[in-house]
This record gives sequence, C-alpha cells and structure tokens, in this order.
Amino acid sequence: MMGSLRGRLFVGLTAIILLTGAVGGLLAYRWAYSEAIEMQDSVLIQIGSFVLSAPIRQSRPVTGVDAEAEVAVVELGEAPRGSADDRRLWGLKDGLHNDVYHGQPVRLLLRTRPDGSRFAVTQQTEIRTEIAGDMAVRTLLPIAALVPCLLLMTAFVIARSFRPMLRLAGDLDARKVDDVGALPATGAPSELQPFLGSINGLLERVRVMMDQQRRFIADAAHELRTPVTALSLQAENLASLDMPAETRDRLDALKSGMRRTKHLLEQLLALARQDAAPSIATVAVELDKIAKGVVADLLPEAAARNIDLGFTTVEAVAVNGDELSLISAVRNLVENAIKFTPNGGAVDLAVAREDGMAVIQIQDTGPGIPPQDLARIGEPFFRGGQPSGEGAGLGLSIVKRIVDHAAGSVLFENVTGAGRSGLRVTLRLPASTDEA
Ligand SMILES: Nc1ncnc2c1ncn2[C@@H]1O[C@H](COP(=O)(O)OP(=O)(O)OP(=O)(O)O)[C@@H](O)[C@H]1O
Ligand SMILES: [Mg+2]
Repeated sequence: MMGSLRGRLFVGLTAIILLTGAVGGLLAYRWAYSEAIEMQDSVLIQIGSFVLSAPIRQSRPVTGVDAEAEVAVVELGEAPRGSADDRRLWGLKDGLHNDVYHGQPVRLLLRTRPDGSRFAVTQQTEIRTEIAGDMAVRTLLPIAALVPCLLLMTAFVIARSFRPMLRLAGDLDARKVDDVGALPATGAPSELQPFLGSINGLLERVRVMMDQQRRFIADAAHELRTPVTALSLQAENLASLDMPAETRDRLDALKSGMRRTKHLLEQLLALARQDAAPSIATVAVELDKIAKGVVADLLPEAAARNIDLGFTTVEAVAVNGDELSLISAVRNLVENAIKFTPNGGAVDLAVAREDGMAVIQIQDTGPGIPPQDLARIGEPFFRGGQPSGEGAGLGLSIVKRIVDHAAGSVLFENVTGAGRSGLRVTLRLPASTDEA
C-alpha cells in the first residue's frame, strides 16, 4: 500500500482529515459545554430576580423552567435557622456558589431581600453537567457527518487524478509488440510529461534499432541471393554432365539444399519488404482474381499429389491494397494448405463479401495446428512443436504483416466433424467501396 503513490496520498489525507475532525470536535465540544454552563447560571440569576420580587415566601421546586432542570428555591429566613445545611447557606455571601445541599453537590445563587430575609436558588450539579454534555454532543453531529463525506470525496478525487496514469499504462499494455509509435502527450497532466518524454525517447531509440536490424536482414538476404543463384546454376550445369549414379544422388541432395536456401532467402526478403514499406494502399485490387491466379499457379503442384484444389464459392469483391503483397499472402496460405495436406486430400477456397469485408477462406484436410501451437503461429521461424515438411517458417509471419498493414485480420481454426477435419484460415480485409 505504501509503495503506491495513491495509497500514500490516501493514508496521508485520511490522517489529516481525522486529526482535523478530532481537534475541531474537541474544541467545539468544550466551547459548547462551557457555554451551556453559563446559560444555566443565567437562568438561576433570572429565577433569583423573580423570586426577589414575588410576594410568596416558601421553599419550593421551580416548575416551568425545564421539567428535568431540577431548580429549587430554598427560603433561609432573616436569621440562621433550620437544618445545618440551611444555616451554612445563610452564612454564604450573595452570588453564585458551588456547594453541597442535602448530600448532593449543587450550584446555588444566594440573594438577600431589602427586608433582610435570604433565599437560595439551587440546582443539582449532576443535572447541570448532564444538560451541558447533551448540548455539547449535539454540536459534534455536523462534524461527525462531515468526516466520512470528506473521506469519500478524497478517495474519489485521488482515483480521478490518477486515471491518466492508468490510462497511459493501459495504452502501453494494449500495444502490439512491434508498435513503437510515440505516445500522445496532449491531454496528459503536466506531472506525466517528463515521463512521457522519456518513454517516447526510448520508443524512438527502439524504433531506430528495429529499423537497422530489419535493413540488415533485408541487405543480407539480398546480398546472399546473387551467389546462391549462381551456385544453383552451377549445380544445374553440373547435372547435364554424365556422372555415376552415386554422384548424381549427391548432386540431387545438393540441388534440393540450394532450393531450400533460395526459398529461405525469398521468404526473408518478402518479410523484410513488408516491414520496410507498409504499402500505402489506394488501388482497388480484385481479391477473387488474385485467388484464382494463385490457385491456377499451384494446380500442378496439387495435382502431382492428387489433392483436389478448388473453389466452393467465388464472389467478386475488391480490396484496397498492394497487389503483390496480397498475392503473396494468399499464396503462402494456399501453399501451406497443400503442403500439410496428405496425398489425396482436398483444399477448398471461398471468396465472399460480408458486412463490408472481403473474406477469403482456405480449408484443408490436413492435421491442423495443435492448440498449444496456435498462439505462436506467425512468429518468425516458428514451425510448430513438431516441424514437418520443408519450410522456412516465415510464411505466416509474412501473411500477418500484410494483413496488419491492410487493417485486416486472419484467423486460424481447427475444424473437425462432418466427415472431414483440418485447418480453416479466414482472412478478412476491408472491402473497397469503389468497385467495378
Ligand atoms: N494448413 C496447415 N495445416 C497444418 N499446419 C500448418 C498449416 N499452415 C501452417 N501450419 C503450421 O504452421 C507453421 C508455420 O507456417 P509458415 O507458413 O509460417 O511456415 P512454413 O510453411 O513452415 O515455412 P515457409 O512458409 O516459410 O516456407 C508450419 O510449419 C506448420 O507447422
Ligand atoms: Mg508456409
């Protein structure tokens, strides 16, 4: 609790409020108490004045002041007489006194009439303090009601003041891993500005570093492509010569190694291209045509493995995007479907328009992706917990980036049942409005 600024503020302010309330309450109580005592004295003096001019002379309780006030008039006569208490009272001077009468502590007012007779107006001290206490407690009520209200308001104000900070943390948390754009500084409280400045500085440095790294990968892949292509050509040339069967086997192994390396470089370059230049798409591209083109390209590959590659539905729908990138995305997905589907299986495509989105669905009859791998799909070089087949492990990273840049989404689901199972990939892209 004390580790948090909010907690510290709340504890501190609570202590201040409680202390102020306690001191204020104590002072108010004492002031009201002495005020009430004085008021009761003045009541005694008033009653004294009445009795002084009244014709009746007889000890009696005074009624009509306050039923519980227990004020009494005691006639003492012109000379000391009666009980020991009466005699002692007679001996006191005119005025207010604290004394004991009939065994009870009392407050009393002594007065002498012009004819020399004396009387006392008495009130039990216990009753007086009780009345004064009651009145003083009543002055505490507003303070007692105010303190909880203040505490509530403090908690509310503190929570509100810290909201921008929590919002900032939420913004940072919600970011995609590769989002290194600056945090907006407008609207944030001035205390957060230096903090924001530092974070944005850090983000900028990270962005520069990421850019350098991407450029390095792109440059390296590009530089490697030329020698690898040359090597492949040399291998092809070599293959046209006569050679023993054993040598030819080794040459074939060499050639497929070269092919894999070339594929890796192609994929690396495609990925680097997506990272470097997020295509500022303004051209409407027909997604159904792209899909048909990709399928036509891959038909021989599918046929060679006896895989039934085709469409279940095709609707004409266009998206705003970079044509080459979109071809690359669809191609990577269909290639995966063919690659991971066993011989004799099927790969079905569907292109449709749904609520302003262009949707392309690719479903195969392969093993699907194990649930524990689904979360990591799209990480560069991730090929699943048990990699199978050939591949660089970059295809889905490329797809994800293309989809991100096009403000679309891609969903991987394992479908089972209805006599077939496999992976279903759903690609959604905002449909273009200026359609033919
Ligand atoms: N249709 C599919 N069925 C089953 N598993 C798949 C399917 N598509 C992708 N995967 C799994 O996801 C992994 C990543 O796919 P990705 O396309 O990124 O890499 P790759 O195909 O292995 O290599 P590359 O595409 O770069 O040549 C694959 O290795 C495979 O394990
Ligand atoms: Mg792939």
